[in-house]
Amino acid sequence: MSRKRVLAGVAATLTITLGLAACGSGGGIEGGGAEGGGGGGSAETVFRLAFNQTEEHPQYKAAMQMGEDLYEATDGRYGIEVYANELLGTQSDVVNNVSEGSVEMMLIGGPLMESFNPDFVVFNLPYMFASQEAQAAVFADTAATGELFASIEESKNITVVAGLFAGVRNVYNNERPVRTPEDLAGLRLRVQQSDSQVAMIEAMGGVASPMGQGEVYTALQSGVLEGAENNETVYNSLKHDEVAKYYSYTEHLMIPDYLLMNTDVLAQMSEEDRAAFTELVPALVEDANTGFFEFIETSRAASEENGAEFNEDVDVEAFRQRVAPLVEESIDNDVKQGLYDAVQQYNEQYPAES
Ligand code: GCU
Repeated sequence: MSRKRVLAGVAATLTITLGLAACGSGGGIEGGGAEGGGGGGSAETVFRLAFNQTEEHPQYKAAMQMGEDLYEATDGRYGIEVYANELLGTQSDVVNNVSEGSVEMMLIGGPLMESFNPDFVVFNLPYMFASQEAQAAVFADTAATGELFASIEESKNITVVAGLFAGVRNVYNNERPVRTPEDLAGLRLRVQQSDSQVAMIEAMGGVASPMGQGEVYTALQSGVLEGAENNETVYNSLKHDEVAKYYSYTEHLMIPDYLLMNTDVLAQMSEEDRAAFTELVPALVEDANTGFFEFIETSRAASEENGAEFNEDVDVEAFRQRVAPLVEESIDNDVKQGLYDAVQQYNEQYPAES
């Protein structure tokens, strides 16, 4: 099978450091699972991977591919079954299942990690990454992120397997195009569930309303919210473009998603099978990240057909200045400072395209 490998200059190395010895139960469904791709149908052990977006999403496709490759690499001992569309529950619920081991894997938005270890906040701050390449380089640098990714193994039994690009987030609402922070006045905007996201929208000039992704459409439709902030793919695939037609490029966030795995489950694999799993992770990251750009294009075109208006005339500098104090005060310990410095180093190496 042929794959496209085009991610700019990122050494695709990844080692999973397991702080815990194998213990406890878990280890996936024995003897098969749902039918379908991802090597899930006939593998001896199937890892359930919870996903809150559609089957069109490049992360879904990359995870299915990883499942097939894992099935092959382990002679059918392991496969992955991806459950899309929040079928296994919202991210904030499912993460507890991953912690207990009743779900083996999931993809989760960065802000939800802050309640487990506040140091994750660094990657969720506004205007943090200069480019997608800079972000990918940070996550491929295990010296920079290895400890953070292993930091909740003991407390939560969760290993962060990888950090993934999840688009650039912009604001949208059903009242008006947004050009300046003043244009956000009085608009209630949904944010992901964390303090950093609430503080950010308040600093940008809006009214923040934290909630799970699945509730947003109804909240917009019923007038509980005037808007939200997200990338073009969510805006289109969750039909937010039907109920909030003004999408404005504030470009305020490049929040990553993380691939999580129950730590015991990973530890219980034989060394050989775990190595096979680990070797497939860089390809998953690259496939998902590469596919994202095309997905943005098709999503935007589809939203435009639905009547959405995309506004590029935004005073990004004004928003950046509004949130600068928040970024500064959020870097309040040595670990965060170290992560912040690593980001700055890669921002210099991979600056924004002008
Ligand atoms: C993005 C991200 C998801 C997250 C969602 C949200 O789509 O990839 O992980 O759940 O935003 O805003 O909730």
